[in-house]
Amino acid sequence: MKLTPDQVAAFERDGYLFFPALFSPREVQVLLDAVPALYERREAINVREKGSDAVRTNFAAHLYSAPFARLARHPRMVEPVQQLLGEALYMHQFKINGKMAFEGDVWQWHQDYGTWRNDDLMPGPRAMNVAIFLDEVDAFNGPLMFIPGSHRRGVIDARHDTTTTSYPLWTIDHALIAQLVERAGGRAGGMVSPLGPAGSMILFHSCLVHASGSNLSPWNRVSVYLSLCAVGNHIRRHQRPEYIAHRDFTPIECLRDDCLLAAPPVELPWRDGVPASAFVTSCEPLKETT
Ligand code: SIN
Ligand code: MN
Repeated sequence: MKLTPDQVAAFERDGYLFFPALFSPREVQVLLDAVPALYERREAINVREKGSDAVRTNFAAHLYSAPFARLARHPRMVEPVQQLLGEALYMHQFKINGKMAFEGDVWQWHQDYGTWRNDDLMPGPRAMNVAIFLDEVDAFNGPLMFIPGSHRRGVIDARHDTTTTSYPLWTIDHALIAQLVERAGGRAGGMVSPLGPAGSMILFHSCLVHASGSNLSPWNRVSVYLSLCAVGNHIRRHQRPEYIAHRDFTPIECLRDDCLLAAPPVELPWRDGVPASAFVTSCEPLKETT
């Protein structure tokens, strides 16, 4: 899938691109069917909501679930990111966020690159977020909210919030968010929420400021969040476990466009469980090998 010059210009201006219904209902179903078994696992790879059994985030399913391993190599997802970043990519992070009916908690205002820089020593923001909806996203089930154009401000000061939700995040002060929204147009376009059917995809810049509210609706909002990083921009520290911030910088090779339905064999290196090495962390920067 190749982006047009207008799409590239819109990405540079707004910091995101939205592709409604990019994956078909049958393709989405293959992925959605695999989610309950992943969410059942009582392991560190599943972070549950504070005070609840609902899964907030499942990590690294592309290493132990065949449908998600295929999605991680899908050309409709990988090729446009490769075009925008102009380099081969590796998978920095892979999440299936639950945002379950009545239970899904907020994601505070943040930039993903803030966390990747502070925690993982990723050198620059040459990494991209991709969100793929496995459920319809509407105004009620906690849609993502963006401040268009906020990626152009680069890295914004953030505070490490370890208390609001069950997942620590570098978050941005509300006074600054109010200013950013005002400068982006206030009520006239200063905040946007891409809404659409299951199978829709959003590409968004790693410095785009975003958040999402809680899900008080009776509808789940399961979405996959893939974070692809330019290979030359790989992280320089393993302060977080490997199931959160990946350490294999091998370039992604795409499968065929029909891979979700044709189901070709894929490697599943963590099929028998997360290896002990994935839990080993260090605050020391990695030694440069080149
Ligand atoms: C994220 O920002 O990583 C997740 C946001 C969401 O699931 O709404
Ligand atoms: Mn985020």
